[in-house]
Amino acid sequence: MNASEASKIYDHAIEVLQENDLGTYTVPTRGLYPFQWNWDSCLTALGQSHYDEARAWTEIETLFAHQWPDGMVPHIVFHVWNDGYFPGPDVWQTGRPTPTSGITQPPVAAFAVRRLFERAKDKELAVRHASALLPKIDAWHRWFYANRDPHGEGLVAILHPWESGRDNSVDWDEAFERVPTAGIDPYTRRDTQHADPAHRPTKEQYDRYLWLVQHFRALGWDNSKLHDASPFQVIDPGFNAILIRGCSDLAALAETLGEPEIAQANRARAEMGLAALEGLWSDQHGQYLCLDRTTGTLIDSASIGGILPVFGGVPKDRAHEIARGIERQAGGVRFLVPSHDPADPRFEAKRYWRGPAWLVMNYMIADGLQAIGETEVAGHIVRSSLELIAQSGFAEYYDPLTGEPCGGGRFTWTAAMVIEFLKQAER
Ligand code: GLC
Repeated sequence: MNASEASKIYDHAIEVLQENDLGTYTVPTRGLYPFQWNWDSCLTALGQSHYDEARAWTEIETLFAHQWPDGMVPHIVFHVWNDGYFPGPDVWQTGRPTPTSGITQPPVAAFAVRRLFERAKDKELAVRHASALLPKIDAWHRWFYANRDPHGEGLVAILHPWESGRDNSVDWDEAFERVPTAGIDPYTRRDTQHADPAHRPTKEQYDRYLWLVQHFRALGWDNSKLHDASPFQVIDPGFNAILIRGCSDLAALAETLGEPEIAQANRARAEMGLAALEGLWSDQHGQYLCLDRTTGTLIDSASIGGILPVFGGVPKDRAHEIARGIERQAGGVRFLVPSHDPADPRFEAKRYWRGPAWLVMNYMIADGLQAIGETEVAGHIVRSSLELIAQSGFAEYYDPLTGEPCGGGRFTWTAAMVIEFLKQAER
């Protein structure tokens, strides 16, 4: 891509971010997702920081203003009522002053805040905002280990596929079979009115998503009860790697900001997590796998969730082997990184998280590979990402075989990641 193309794409990315910016938070895209999503916002702030640092801090602060008293940061904040999305606040019924969902999402906040802080031009502003966010993020991390690892195994479980951020991955299929569907209230989906139903989850899956929501709702969203009461408890290596990376990043930030206790607690969490993650390694697949906590068995599904641990600082030999796996996958697709192994018969190029490429994943994976010196594979991933944009615009995700844009259009976090990739290339 030449400089003038890059500059056009850069300007276009800012336009997308600004179009979806509602002042104090940014919606992932208009129509399909009309509220604030947790990890979307944290990653979006990275893009915003290149043209407006104050606005980037606000994005994350708005999210944390809706943190629950127990420390959880919800996956959606329903700031302003909008009936275009299902399930809305009337289904979740979490009883929060501003309605939120009752589950969480991958904790990328610490990573994003450290990055914003370290490259901030306005240092004074950065110290002020990072210092205020530090104890809040620490409380969220503490919440994870208390509520999602209640038996002290070192890794946290997700209790709903939506928590993973990889909503419809093959990873959940088997464990999901144990979630009943009887007794759910009648409902009308909205996602299939905005996006192609053939690319979206099936009705049966949707029924189970809702069964879990109703089950947790019946327990009053009391997080001290949900883990043990959930028929779905899965340990996602990608999710845990994000948390581990978050703990290391928060520890580093806390040291800089003179908060030794927060630093120590998060350092210990990261070390414990990294040690436990080893138990999810699969020699057969050359990557990590999910663990079904209810049965104690690894889930035989080679998804991008088991590649993402390169972002969490896993041992170098593991990361190198994962890099070789990505090179292998590159032989089967035109664009990296597919969200499911294309060699697996369950791979579907266009269906939500069962094959398509997502730029946020590419960003985190490339970051981890770069850090351990796998610059060639990292570079390949970045090139793929920019080619996708040049060919297909700022889509929610892409068919890795053809590059076809899928899901929502003019997508916020896609635009934010493009800004990051372009800025990194300048350095
Ligand atoms: C979908 C994605 C999730 C994302 C949300 C908003 O639900 O699976 O990861 O946060 O959309 O973009």
